[in-house]
Amino acid sequence: MLSIVVLISGRGSNLQALINALGSAGNIQFSAVIASRDDAAGLQYAQQAEIPTATVSRREFADTDSFSTALKQEIEQSQPALVVLAGFMHILSDEFVQHFADRLINIHPSLLPKFRGLNTHRRAIAEGVTEHGASVHYVNEELDGGPIIAQTIIDVRATDSIDELAARVLAQEHLLYPTVIQWIADGSLQCIDSKITFRGEPLLKPILFESRPETTECV
Ligand code: GRF
Repeated sequence: MLSIVVLISGRGSNLQALINALGSAGNIQFSAVIASRDDAAGLQYAQQAEIPTATVSRREFADTDSFSTALKQEIEQSQPALVVLAGFMHILSDEFVQHFADRLINIHPSLLPKFRGLNTHRRAIAEGVTEHGASVHYVNEELDGGPIIAQTIIDVRATDSIDELAARVLAQEHLLYPTVIQWIADGSLQCIDSKITFRGEPLLKPILFESRPETTECV
């Protein structure tokens, strides 16, 4: 049984997709959902699924270090095997990242290493790229850095608005993230000392996840 703690900051559509896809998987336990804002809308999905929730409010802490320490203590009450960042919008301290090394993953709405940071869809359109997508990666001390596990690539259409592109990427995130976590739960995917193995072989490049029509209900 893989015990996971999910960290959110807002809407929580990825959390919802994870609960829908993995809630009855049998080998995954959602030990807690922790929000960085007490008004994070995504908390409702945890409550509906009867997953314990907590809030460690970023604005109650003066700096990254004190926030990260409080968050670490809250997470460790559940002693999870995996910490899942799902729309978690804050920088975490190096000490936090090192503490959870090899068991901290994030989803980012771009084909990393392109477009680290915010406003990825706007930047993708502004740059005129023809392909865009989402990445799931282990977290290291660099912003949106760390070994990339898997990516979904989608075509950018000439007519795409930022919102249209964002919606198509988000739909793929909802398929990609549960798949990666299921791989970790069933032992197919492992990370030791920042080195990923997949089905017993070292992972030399990100796993390419075919983009598929959306099947998960979106908010
Ligand atoms: C997603 O696009 C995720 O990749 C990024 O933040 C967004 C969160 O959306 N890190 P939601 O809160 O899961 O709906």
